Amino acid sequence: MYTSRISGLGYYVPENIVTNDDLSKKMDTNDEWIQERTGIQQRRHIKKGDGNSTSVMGVKAAKIALERAKLTTDAIDLIIFATLSPDMYFPGGGVQVQEMMNMRTIPALDIRNQCSGFVYAISVADQFIKTGMYKNVLVIGSENHSGGLDMTTRGRGVSVIFGDGAGAAVMTRSERDGFGVLSTHLHSEGAHAKELSLEGPSTAHWVPEIIAENPQENIPYYPYMNGQFVFKNAVVRFSEVINEGLQANNLTAADINMLIPHQANLRISQFVQKQFKLSDDQVFNNIQKYGNTTAASIPIALTEAWEEGKIKEGDLVVLAAFGSGFTWGSAIIKW
Ligand SMILES: CC(C)(COP(=O)(O)OP(=O)(O)OC[C@H]1O[C@@H](n2cnc3c(N)ncnc32)[C@H](O)[C@@H]1OP(=O)(O)O)[C@@H](O)C(=O)NCCC(=O)NCCS
Repeated sequence: MYTSRISGLGYYVPENIVTNDDLSKKMDTNDEWIQERTGIQQRRHIKKGDGNSTSVMGVKAAKIALERAKLTTDAIDLIIFATLSPDMYFPGGGVQVQEMMNMRTIPALDIRNQCSGFVYAISVADQFIKTGMYKNVLVIGSENHSGGLDMTTRGRGVSVIFGDGAGAAVMTRSERDGFGVLSTHLHSEGAHAKELSLEGPSTAHWVPEIIAENPQENIPYYPYMNGQFVFKNAVVRFSEVINEGLQANNLTAADINMLIPHQANLRISQFVQKQFKLSDDQVFNNIQKYGNTTAASIPIALTEAWEEGKIKEGDLVVLAAFGSGFTWGSAIIKW
């Protein structure tokens, strides 16, 4: 029986730091409001001309993960690329990564599950490895939010939250019983699709029609978020899906060495931490530095936690995410 384990991790964030004060020069907001509601102090934004894009950042993170896994690109059997902000409407970022990294004609699969994208991707990789079909899977989460946010006061409820960056994990076949990915649990609830969404451009909002028919302020090219509704659902679903994963493995919250929640909002993470009675050492947060980087947030946080020596062999690591769709999921990993 095969299991999958994470054999290498990497992340990349653009150099350009954007503080809350920087944002307050563009829109009616302030550091106190942003920190109090979200915990965010700064985020990274791609700067025009710095050469970054969603797939370019994904490649930078992937190269570090591969090096740490001590593998070359030839060893990778599948690329899974999670993003809500691909460079192109189609094709997806996976094939761009393949091209940029000079990889064989292996399959490239894009996952469009927003903030849950990385957990969904881990789950898909795990299934392919468990069945014996693939040995090494490159999983990437990458986002370029700054290119598509409304940086005026109209968009402040959304724009202050999101940041750019990428994280990557190499998942590798293992035969070590009781280690690696113990389980993944995934969910969705399409009834709330519109509560956190970006409608256009899409086949329901063709660009020429929109330009012809809509006044400037109605162009649905900016994300919409019903913040309080998202918050209420997030705290419930995070807890449910973590419990589901723990119970499936006959574990309790006391067994958790490290919880890496999707970095949606520091208040959400703190709520979850309290519910499971976890100490500060058992939960990793870096939203203060990077904002919410959607599909990239868990691999960036996981990499940082690992680099800081906070994840050791034999630790029980729990990944949990919630986001647009709504979609949510958890992964229980014995490191
Ligand atoms: C977005 C969020 C921080 C907003 O906090 P909130 O307490 O719900 O705030 P509200 O949206 O009710 O807005 C409160 C006031 O602040 C204002 N406001 C909104 N954004 C602002 C900003 N960036 N700066 C200053 N004021 C702002 C609103 O206009 C509103 O003003 P009003 O009372 O005069 O109408 C919060 O709802 C949240 O974190 N939701 C979850 C978001 C999330 O995690 N998304 C990612 C999911 S993966």
